[in-house]
Amino acid sequence: SAGVSFADTPPLAVKDTYRVGFAQMESNNPWRIAETKSFHDTAKSCGWELIATDAAGSAAKQVADVDSMIAQGIDVLFLPPREEKPLLPAVMKAKAAGIPTFLIDRSVDSNIAQAGEHFVAFLGSDFIEQGNRAAEWLIDNFAGEKGVIVELEGTTGSSPANDRKKGFDDRILQDDRFEIVASQTGDFARDLGRQVMETLLQAHPDVNVVYAHNDEMAIGAIQALELAGRKPGVDITVVSIDGTRDALQAIIDGKMGVTVESSPFFGPLACDVMKKYAAGEKIPGWVKVEDRVFTIENAADHIDEAY
Ligand code: AHR
Repeated sequence: SAGVSFADTPPLAVKDTYRVGFAQMESNNPWRIAETKSFHDTAKSCGWELIATDAAGSAAKQVADVDSMIAQGIDVLFLPPREEKPLLPAVMKAKAAGIPTFLIDRSVDSNIAQAGEHFVAFLGSDFIEQGNRAAEWLIDNFAGEKGVIVELEGTTGSSPANDRKKGFDDRILQDDRFEIVASQTGDFARDLGRQVMETLLQAHPDVNVVYAHNDEMAIGAIQALELAGRKPGVDITVVSIDGTRDALQAIIDGKMGVTVESSPFFGPLACDVMKKYAAGEKIPGWVKVEDRVFTIENAADHIDEAY
């Protein structure tokens, strides 16, 4: 493809089959499992010989997994970086090894690593907008006089935790009915969401809104609230992000108000963008995924396709 500029990222040949690395960060929630499955489901039709790893929640292991993929001679790397800074070495090493990298669903520190230079592109949602939309649903639907909010944050140092916090907090604090009385990490995990909610409920018994950065923590929080005799959906409003099956069911059951979609089905998009890149097309630095919003209006229509 003479004359085509790839900026500084390594080129990719047009071939029938590719040795592809997918370095998953963890598999402790349905979202991650659905994402990994999406890559496996896409492999055959996209000509991928897929090497998939699971870092089990350790950024250090995720970096080591990428090292071993590089040693195995992958042609292309798909990387969902668990945290923004600790995964920078993996991005830099892949670039140094001449392997084009696509960041999947989460990003790395943009002060240091840039799309079109250190990696080809980031494929994923606008997490700030997701937080905005959760806040806007609350502003439009909260019937009480004073909203006392507990926020359950995602993995500390991850791009979705940073951006979903910013998007929600900035928007909700423009309405002076609302106050965020506590904000603590639940590491995007159901169990920790439940435990943190238990503790925060004791410190803030007047809480009447929970904003969770993902559905797993929201479901954990609902369990803690019910154990404490609270009635989610009646005396406490729960808002969240993802669109898992359990969250859609909680909406149908009247326990959760809204979940802003964050799709895990990246396999087909990754295939499409990779092939375009190999063919010499210019790839935007951010291939943005458009998200929907699930409420009582439409949850039942989507639960069958949920994960
Ligand atoms: O990066 C996307 C987030 O990661 C999802 O919201 C969450 O459920 C997952 O662990």
